[in-house]
Amino acid sequence: MKICVVGLGNIGFNLFTYLCQRFPGEVIGVDVNERRVNELLNQGYKVTADYLELTEIDVWLMAPSTGSQGQNLFSALEQMIINPGSLISIESTLPPGTMMRIRDFLAEKGFALGEDLFLIHVPHRVMFGVDKTVCDTPRVMGAFTRACQEKGRQFYAPLVPLLVEVSDVRVAELSKVVENVKRYLDVAFAQEIYGYCVDQGMDYNSLKTAVNSKNNVELLGTDWGIGGECLPKDMSFLRTVCSSALLDGAEQADQDYRDRIVRQVGSGKDVLVRGLSYKTGVKDLKHSRGVDLVRALEAAENSVWVQDPLFTPVELSEAGFNAIDELEVDQREQEQDQIAPKIILDRHNALDIKIVTAIESFEEIS
Ligand SMILES: NC(=O)c1ccc[n+]([C@@H]2O[C@H](COP(=O)([O-])OP(=O)(O)OC[C@H]3O[C@@H](n4cnc5c(N)ncnc54)[C@H](O)[C@@H]3O)[C@@H](O)[C@H]2O)c1
Repeated sequence: MKICVVGLGNIGFNLFTYLCQRFPGEVIGVDVNERRVNELLNQGYKVTADYLELTEIDVWLMAPSTGSQGQNLFSALEQMIINPGSLISIESTLPPGTMMRIRDFLAEKGFALGEDLFLIHVPHRVMFGVDKTVCDTPRVMGAFTRACQEKGRQFYAPLVPLLVEVSDVRVAELSKVVENVKRYLDVAFAQEIYGYCVDQGMDYNSLKTAVNSKNNVELLGTDWGIGGECLPKDMSFLRTVCSSALLDGAEQADQDYRDRIVRQVGSGKDVLVRGLSYKTGVKDLKHSRGVDLVRALEAAENSVWVQDPLFTPVELSEAGFNAIDELEVDQREQEQDQIAPKIILDRHNALDIKIVTAIESFEEIS
């Protein structure tokens, strides 16, 4: 078997390395980003940026970034040399309706699905920072024909803990988007209730503990806003096909929450922002609402310092931030240093601003 992973980003690269262990010598990766490919070649991986090198592929696992209309997938499909009898699995998250466009695209190329080509959709749903490998989570699989479904089952059933097969490929497509939008709504709701608690002088964390003592309820924690790449993107995928006041409201609620953090700080202050990665426990600054917050505070003419347990101050400085390390902050607070940050923002209590007074202690305000 010759397997090719298309797109070597967060998902694709982790999938690629996992499969290299499962199928030694049978896996190759492709990415259009030549810098990324050279970096991986230098590390000894079998990858390429040239689709023409990819001949006789039996299984294509496609995990490129999607593009707002799925354009990256179509661009990849256009370049792939597709062998009769091969399996193409779309693992990227798709705007609803994309699988039907892919089916039509392949039909125009002369392929008959379930006869000379097998197409399935198995949206990826790894939770970085939680799952140990990219194949730890049950997966949903949909296809247009029974033969495609059967071929997909042969490949995925031994790889994943549970394969949830759906008979309508649109269900597979929508399942991934809905999964993320549901999370989005839950976070937006948490932000609203947290804001209400702050207004009323109530402790949100004790409310959360009280609510979550019932086993079918989960009130989530809050962060700098709803960030990362997937949740906002998948919300926009759903909103393009589903008109809903609830979805509109959730997006507005998140925007209001983020604006409130900046408004509460005001301008002309020295501020320390604690926690910058796009989510707790994952060392990645891309699509981080923490980064957006820092830039918004700077635009409001504050002097902003940052700190994140996952990054060294040098790494943060190189990424373009004024970094300060934890020990230094403690020391400056104790010494009442004039340049110590005066306002401290923590990612999970972003509306509970801590002010470092000129004297010595923290004063909580809302
Ligand atoms: N990151 C996550 O936590 C996560 C979780 C589940 C699903 N997904 C979905 O998986 C897909 C990939 O996400 P990601 O986080 O790995 O993205 P990413 O931006 O980290 O990586 C995508 C890679 O695809 C490459 N690419 C783009 N067009 C290409 C093409 N035509 N041919 C080959 N390579 C191409 C890019 O150069 C990039 O290296 C997206 O659809 C995303 O929504 C992501």
